[in-house]
Amino acid sequence: MSELTDGVIVLRPWHTDDAEWYATQSNDVEIQRNTAEPAHLTAAPVAEEIARYAADPRYPGWAICEADSGELLGNAGVDLAHGEVSYWVAAAARGRGIATRAVRLMAAYAFEISELEELRLWVKPGNAGSARVARKAGFTRAPELDNDVAIRDEVWRAEYYRMTRDAAHISAASHRTIVDGRLILP
Ligand SMILES: CC(C)(COP(=O)(O)OP(=O)(O)OC[C@H]1O[C@@H](n2cnc3c(N)ncnc32)[C@H](O)[C@@H]1OP(=O)(O)O)[C@@H](O)C(=O)NCCC(=O)NCCS
Repeated sequence: MSELTDGVIVLRPWHTDDAEWYATQSNDVEIQRNTAEPAHLTAAPVAEEIARYAADPRYPGWAICEADSGELLGNAGVDLAHGEVSYWVAAAARGRGIATRAVRLMAAYAFEISELEELRLWVKPGNAGSARVARKAGFTRAPELDNDVAIRDEVWRAEYYRMTRDAAHISAASHRTIVDGRLILP
């Protein structure tokens, strides 16, 4: 799977060695409050999921890392079957523009490698940080797409945002920014 970078962060494939870190971060209160991550995750099931998703080109997922140090910062994924992106940033790495950079990279990648005309993401009501990330990355609010989603044992309202291919300025025929499996955004 491709690596994506803008020079500040790198989105690289997950390694099974990352499972312990992923499990620990995913138990963070904000991640549990705002995402579908299962509660009380441990390394073993995460390692299984990493191996399973690595083999499925419909669901590319990446570790967000600092470009210079390789330090793990968060999780980013795109469901190419439904054109949806998702993300979280580890508590210690928030407030540095990491999520915005990751969403921009994923959007550029998804439009480059697929025929999708639109990408979507959803935000739980009250998740002001993620709503701001969506807008900063170029998504606009799409209330007509809002629906109810079953998350763990609850029903959450999903507030949708969309970005069209036109808005991303990536033509369906380009396929040119990925070189040797690496997408580089200026
Ligand atoms: C929401 C989240 C992804 C933001 O990640 P981040 O890397 O800190 O976001 P950024 O630094 O790119 O912030 C982008 C903008 O959002 C704003 N922002 C970030 N967190 C915010 C918050 N909690 N409340 C209000 N604004 C916030 C930033 O100030 C910035 O706006 P600005 O440039 O106008 O100041 C992160 O807090 C997180 O992982 N939360 C828990 C999981 C989650 O909500 N995932 C998304 C599910 S849809």
